[in-house]
Amino acid sequence: MAEPRAVVITGASRGLGFASAVRLYGEGWRVVAAMRTPDRGMPLLREATGAVENDGRLIGVQLDLLDPASISSAAKAIEEAVGAPFALVHNAGISAAGMVEETDMALWQNMFATSVIGPVELTKALLPSMRAAGEGRIVLVSSANGVRGQPGTAPYSAAKGALERWGESMAGEIAPFGLGVTVLVTGMYDTEIITDAGTTDDRIFDGPYARIHNTMNTRGRFAIRFARPPERFTDGLVKALQDTGSFRRRGVGLDASMLLASSRILPSIGMHHLSRIALGIPKQGAMRGGAWPLTTGQKAMVFATRVLPQPVLQRLASLAAKRRKAPRGNEGD
Ligand SMILES: NC(=O)c1ccc[n+]([C@@H]2O[C@H](COP(=O)([O-])OP(=O)(O)OC[C@H]3O[C@@H](n4cnc5c(N)ncnc54)[C@H](OP(=O)(O)O)[C@@H]3O)[C@@H](O)[C@H]2O)c1
Repeated sequence: MAEPRAVVITGASRGLGFASAVRLYGEGWRVVAAMRTPDRGMPLLREATGAVENDGRLIGVQLDLLDPASISSAAKAIEEAVGAPFALVHNAGISAAGMVEETDMALWQNMFATSVIGPVELTKALLPSMRAAGEGRIVLVSSANGVRGQPGTAPYSAAKGALERWGESMAGEIAPFGLGVTVLVTGMYDTEIITDAGTTDDRIFDGPYARIHNTMNTRGRFAIRFARPPERFTDGLVKALQDTGSFRRRGVGLDASMLLASSRILPSIGMHHLSRIALGIPKQGAMRGGAWPLTTGQKAMVFATRVLPQPVLQRLASLAAKRRKAPRGNEGD
């Protein structure tokens, strides 16, 4: 019987990487789960998959993408365990919040080291054996932010954009040897990366960008409610691993697919205004001289005071006051 195909997944300790390792193990793959702390992550993966400690289909490998020594020993350990892997999934990543002016340079360096430099280094180490095998796939987990740079997250957007361009270049180089690249433009999934705890936050809420931060923060928190469970992401990865062409860019999730479709149709200025409006960012020049333009909600209130009769306004104000006084426990009743 032929050996099952081997897939290496980086950042398999939690989130999308963890869900992917569980799904692919369940589908019969030999899974190399690469992570910073296998001592902590592997017992959880074994519990989730039902694999035993020395299961040859679930192999833990230590990998810290910020450490070149860890990358070269991970590549060695991977080849010792499975030979040339069929697939390499670059999933590990970190997120960041803050305007360009606010972000620390150390964050830019960590971001590019984790999302671009480290993955390139690991790929370089594994490519000779993958090329010799004459088949295989490299999957790059990108984001909506890699399609279009989004305000308030420039280091992340820039690194995902670089990841995508790197993948496009490499596809042209390795396709003649039988290998291919798939970029997964990933929508929003419920993992730590979208939470405060999972993000390096350099935002300054009382600085010149305060008005924009406040609106984006409210809208972002609302959008997070629609994040899907990480297991849903794995459908996209399974499809990517079935891709046979030299290069493919796939949207994973309706939000990512819609963004990809609109970026094909709209000119860049249209995409710029679409994201500006969606994020509630004031028009060009509106904040010159430190002006604090009203939010949409505040504008609506000003409009209401102009058009509604006094008794209606008084009634609305007293209802709002009552609502503010009501104990929180009553809200869910
Ligand atoms: N969730 C979403 O909505 C979403 C949307 C678009 C794109 N993505 C992308 O999906 C990928 C997975 O993210 P996630 O949502 O699963 O986030 P997550 O739950 O925060 O997981 C991030 C993973 O990356 C690993 N990692 C971070 N720095 C690393 C390093 N230096 N070396 C090795 N591993 C490192 C983490 O390992 P530790 O456990 O050791 O920290 C963890 O396993 C990322 O590339 C992210 O940009 C996610």
